[in-house]
Amino acid sequence: MTTTIMILNGPNLNLLGTREPDIYGAETLADIEAKVKARAEALGLAIDFRQSNIEGELVTWIQDARTSAAGIIINAAAYTHTSIAIMDALKACGLPIIEVHMSNIHQRESFRHKSYVARVADGMICGLGSIGYELALEAVAARLSKD
Ligand code: DQA
Repeated sequence: MTTTIMILNGPNLNLLGTREPDIYGAETLADIEAKVKARAEALGLAIDFRQSNIEGELVTWIQDARTSAAGIIINAAAYTHTSIAIMDALKACGLPIIEVHMSNIHQRESFRHKSYVARVADGMICGLGSIGYELALEAVAARLSKD
């Protein structure tokens, strides 16, 4: 059976490609999914790539990942900076977690500097655009082959 990595995207990331392209670039979320899927296949992994604007839906998906996935890559978008519920769900999942942000959140407004996800993630990649998702996949793959 192929090992599956759940890749979760939070609010407004469905608008990538048209949303603030000076910050987030011109690629759509579907473009990113296709690129990450190809990288996953090369690593012998499968991905379950999802996006939601709803906090509770993301919490439910993180709970589901406990039985359906071997790791989580998450760009929780604005919920990164606000959601104790997502942090708690991640903490309970017992899986490797890599946090991703397209932009460098530390160079932006001070309210983006705090990440609840970072408190429970194994690592964070930010500021590298969509390549961050691919690097996160490499990190999860390395982590799984070490276990
Ligand atoms: C983001 C950064 C967040 O601060 C912001 O709310 C987003 C996207 C990023 O990928 O750079 O929606 O997570």
